[in-house]
Amino acid sequence: MITIDGDKVVVSDIDGRREEHHIGTPEAFSILSRLWLRAGWDTKYVYSFTWMGRPIIQLPEDMVRLQEVIHLTKPDVIIETGVAHGGSLIFSASLCKAMDKGRVIGIDIEIRPHNRKAIESHPLFPFITLIEGSSVDLAVVAEVKAQVKNGERVIIFLDSCHSKEHVAAELKAYAPLVSVGSYIVAMDGIMEQVVGASRTQPDWTWNNPKQAALEFVAANKDFIIEEPPFAFNEGSITERVTYWPSAFIKRVR
Ligand SMILES: C[S@@+](CC[C@H](N)C(=O)[O-])C[C@H]1O[C@@H](n2cnc3c(N)ncnc32)[C@H](O)[C@@H]1O
Repeated sequence: MITIDGDKVVVSDIDGRREEHHIGTPEAFSILSRLWLRAGWDTKYVYSFTWMGRPIIQLPEDMVRLQEVIHLTKPDVIIETGVAHGGSLIFSASLCKAMDKGRVIGIDIEIRPHNRKAIESHPLFPFITLIEGSSVDLAVVAEVKAQVKNGERVIIFLDSCHSKEHVAAELKAYAPLVSVGSYIVAMDGIMEQVVGASRTQPDWTWNNPKQAALEFVAANKDFIIEEPPFAFNEGSITERVTYWPSAFIKRVR
């Protein structure tokens, strides 16, 4: 049980174990953040944002982090699986425009006509290529690879089907494109933490992108899971509030 008693956060369990943390500590922040993430899952908080006019289904904390990583890695090509309403593509494209560098390739198994129309008529569409098809379809993978030139710096965001099997197949297909020092990000490992809530499945304890990422790095020595460093931090929090635990797979050689 978690209780908030004035400026204290108290965690107690049925075995009589008890932790007490002042509200101003990283430990209290971590406990409250976990609760907040769970409340956000149940209330569909991440379904309440847009980026330059298009719905983006992301936690704002994660968007800020992604901006830091894109600015740090300065990719020539950003490959994203999972387009939905296009908000994440527009987000990446807006950073490409601001940095005067990069373009975006978006892949989705189904780009609904109204979403396609809105994306194609967006002022940032010149930075975007849309590919419709399953991200693990061999023809789609070949089409993406054909669009990346030798030596281009590539970063990849996986936000399509979040089953372990699908993410593992995406990692196998796309990781060879990732540049050394850049990342392939297996998004939405939060699934593991919200099992039991509405819109979840019992097998999400293992059937999730985080497990796919962990197994991928265990089998591929060129990659490690490494959270990008904080670009700025004058506070005491050193762990991010995120929907993407163990998501940042960095190519090290
Ligand atoms: C969570 S949404 C993407 C959200 C988007 N990245 C954003 O931030 O707004 C997931 C998308 O993945 C797509 N999808 C599901 N299975 C897929 C597959 N096998 N290949 C490509 N896209 C797939 C769905 O059609 C859906 O649009």
